[in-house]
Amino acid sequence: MKLFVTGGAGFIGSNFILYWMKKYPEDKIINFDKLTYAGNLENLKEVEKNPNYEFIQGDICNKRLVEDVTRNIDIIVHFAAESHVDRSILDASPFIQTNIVGTHVLLEAAVKNKVPRFHHVSTDEVFGALPLNSTEKFMDTTPYNPHSPYSASKAASDHLVRAYGDTYGLQYTLSNCSNNFGPYHFPEKLIPLAITNIIEGKKVPVYGDGLYVRDWLYVLDHCEAIDAIIKKGTIGKTYLVGGLTDDISNIDVIKKIITIMEVDESVITFVKDRPGHDRRYAIDWSTINKELGWSPKHTFETALAETVEWFKKNEEWWKRIKSGVYKDYYNTQYK
Ligand code: NAD
Ligand code: TYD
Repeated sequence: MKLFVTGGAGFIGSNFILYWMKKYPEDKIINFDKLTYAGNLENLKEVEKNPNYEFIQGDICNKRLVEDVTRNIDIIVHFAAESHVDRSILDASPFIQTNIVGTHVLLEAAVKNKVPRFHHVSTDEVFGALPLNSTEKFMDTTPYNPHSPYSASKAASDHLVRAYGDTYGLQYTLSNCSNNFGPYHFPEKLIPLAITNIIEGKKVPVYGDGLYVRDWLYVLDHCEAIDAIIKKGTIGKTYLVGGLTDDISNIDVIKKIITIMEVDESVITFVKDRPGHDRRYAIDWSTINKELGWSPKHTFETALAETVEWFKKNEEWWKRIKSGVYKDYYNTQYK
């Protein structure tokens, strides 16, 4: 099989490529990535010389290039996106461009080149927010109600994918997953920011009252879910993918990291809240479990400890990021 992976130099995309090439060494992968601030080829050192792996630097908004490079492939696995909510609040334009226009360009190319399969990776944030202290979870029937420019742009991309299925017969599957964490997580998202700030002796910024709830999914469990969907998923279907956390607040996530890293709670600092901050996310992943036999394998505690270990062992990787372009963003966001 020949896979065309967009955004393969990012957090989840690079984990996916490493996972796939280990599990299916006979398959060929083209990694198509613009290498924005979030794209990092260092994540893929392990496979860069593998003859079955090819990297093409390019923008999914570049119609001519995308049409050209998506010929004779078996599947497009679409990760490429602007993915950070806080950045979308500072400037939504790249989100509209990449997440909506870029997805449209890719869909047009898929139809024109008769690409047999398209898998779109999306987020649970398209569903909006759930109230605290309820047992309600997001399901594949939950209506869309996005609140940030990021989630609104991802919602638009999901609608486009489905529209191309209904209108042009595109053979697609779609997954909406919860917050991923694990190796190669860009150190401006909550978990890697907390771990790396603690290593650097800095404070850990917690937005608002810290009582926001996310569903945390270990990135390797996510890769297995996408694998199951690609191999066994029903065309035209959406699968919700979530982790094993049970309504854990941001402050409790930080406290777990603090315990693992054996530091004092005085590292926590409460900072100004994010505007439009979604209170709670929770995922009902029973459909993918029943239909495809997938369930997350990693408990939050084990995977979090492994993630802390990974960041301790890979200081060079994140220190390079934190000393670069990231710095300007950090200074604006936490000024
Ligand atoms: P990321 O920001 O780490 O990586 C995104 C990658 O896309 C980068 O390598 C970047 O260079 C590339 N890219 C950005 N714009 C591009 C463009 N115009 N053309 C080509 N490449 C471009 O993101 P991630 O966390 O790995 O997320 C991957 C996908 O999963 C996204 O679609 C995101 O919406 C979705 N998702 C992520 C999470 C999460 O917790 N990280 C949760 C749910 C869904
Ligand atoms: P984030 O990792 O940005 O993911 P998302 O917004 O896509 O869920 O944030 C996870 C949660 O952590 C979210 O409720 C915002 C919160 N948060 C903080 O409290 N402090 C921070 O410095 C960051 C980056 C996030």
